[in-house]
Amino acid sequence: MKNLHTQYSARDIETRILEGLRAAGLDPSHRLSPEQLAALDHFHTGGLRASRELLELARIGPGDRVLDIGAGLGGSARLLAYAVGCQVDCVEMSVDYCRGAALLNRLTGLEANVTVQRGSALALPFTDACFDVVWMQNVGMNITDKSKLYAEIARVLKPGGRYAFQEMAAGATPLSYFPLPWATTPEDSILVSAEAMCELLSAQGLSPEIFEDTSEKHLRRSLANATPAAAGQLGLAVYVEDLARKAGNARRSLEDAQIRLLRGVFRSE
Ligand SMILES: C[S@@+](CC[C@H](N)C(=O)[O-])C[C@H]1O[C@@H](n2cnc3c(N)ncnc32)[C@H](O)[C@@H]1O
Repeated sequence: MKNLHTQYSARDIETRILEGLRAAGLDPSHRLSPEQLAALDHFHTGGLRASRELLELARIGPGDRVLDIGAGLGGSARLLAYAVGCQVDCVEMSVDYCRGAALLNRLTGLEANVTVQRGSALALPFTDACFDVVWMQNVGMNITDKSKLYAEIARVLKPGGRYAFQEMAAGATPLSYFPLPWATTPEDSILVSAEAMCELLSAQGLSPEIFEDTSEKHLRRSLANATPAAAGQLGLAVYVEDLARKAGNARRSLEDAQIRLLRGVFRSE
């Protein structure tokens, strides 16, 4: 599978992260809190706010074991571990992001609560029925075999466990603005409609407790908070190339209803 997110030939991701932290006035030799890193490591629509809201909807408790699929730099995993005290396993396809996540786990002192391993969402390296919650944010848009993805999620969930997610879905019209954060060309973007997503999940024994389209809410809020990042400010641009253009195209795609932003909590049988 081609990796659309990381190409770090010149400077590796650890160097980028450490430089980005120092440029933003943070001292990596002192313990950092997950919230201090939030602009850097919540690589999904709505950032930290969206993660906090999903955490509340998913009703995750301290005794829960959580799997974060496609965890990126692990920002949400650390938020969950820090805010709730639960144990979080991260699976991430990119070796660069795994290294970045491990670094940030160390800098926040959360290595014991958050583990990171390289792996695929389509072959999760876990036994059946071992998680209370599976968590996934902005990952499925590059995955073609959605049935296999959801079968894997259902397989690792305990009976009564929850799948909590936010995901891009197909809108009413085809995509026309590229590059997007997840796709350079139309072929890279594998989106299904909200209805198809619900059917695919139901086919794996996952039933909706919450399933909502948050596109309009997100657009209203992001317009209200549209402050451009200042030089030296911590952000995704530390490791995402051409971020402003990609984010602008994602916003236009959402405004034109070419994509929809969904979130949900589905329960396993
Ligand atoms: C937009 S980033 C989101 C990262 C993280 N979930 C977050 O919200 O901060 C998408 C992530 O999914 C990972 N990914 C994509 N396909 C994957 C797969 N099949 N298995 C595991 N990870 C995958 C990418 O490497 C990338 O880190």
